[in-house]
Amino acid sequence: MTRAIKIAPSILASDFAAFGAECEAIEAQGCDWVHIDVMDGHFVPNLTFGPPMCAALRPHIKTVMDVHLMIAPVDPYIDAFAKAGADIITAHVEAGPHIHRTLQAIRGAGCKAGLALNPGTPAEAAAPLLDDLDLICVMTVNPGFGGQKFIHSQLDKIKALRAMIGDRPVEIEIDGGVTAETAPLCSAAGADVLVAGSAVFKGGSVSNPAPYGENIRKIRAAAENARAAA
Ligand code: DX5
Ligand code: ZN
Repeated sequence: MTRAIKIAPSILASDFAAFGAECEAIEAQGCDWVHIDVMDGHFVPNLTFGPPMCAALRPHIKTVMDVHLMIAPVDPYIDAFAKAGADIITAHVEAGPHIHRTLQAIRGAGCKAGLALNPGTPAEAAAPLLDDLDLICVMTVNPGFGGQKFIHSQLDKIKALRAMIGDRPVEIEIDGGVTAETAPLCSAAGADVLVAGSAVFKGGSVSNPAPYGENIRKIRAAAENARAAA
């Protein structure tokens, strides 16, 4: 598998009245994946959108639709998100008692399976599941809102996961508070995919998308340099 750094902007920080155009704009500006934050007002204290929104966005996304489910329960909605065109479906280990079954169901629906860990959850929670997942999402903020501050204590967790994964084809994704300042810490610790909301969308808009590209390049360069030096 390729270990090139990937940048996945979270549309949570984009213009909610223009999601389709925002997805096209960030792809034209060089992002690798599009990260979609699904929140249920129950597992996390915020509400966003569900499968119909993902289906509506699918024709506007040529890269990878990376769907982060911050919902509980997860299992009843897996097929709907798969049918909506998700390439990756990530579920939280904290979202229910049967995460192994959930990961199997995601793969069974034809998607890549991601496992998200809240900041209070240790790396060891992923250990029994490493052969049943394609991605581990390390939350570097408490999920629910964009624009929060990066929690530095999660860097040790990233390192522990990188060691635990060994040569398995599993990517480590970082979600929350990623900026050009924190991205290098993540890539040096072993991260592959960097989700960034505020840091990608700041300063730009659908009618002025160039800042998106500048922000993406800045984050990518900082992360790649730190990885090369690590
Ligand atoms: C938080 C979400 C993140 C968030 C990232 O619950 O999962 O994807 O939108 O936003 P920033 O990059 O602004 O922290
Ligand atoms: Zn997310």
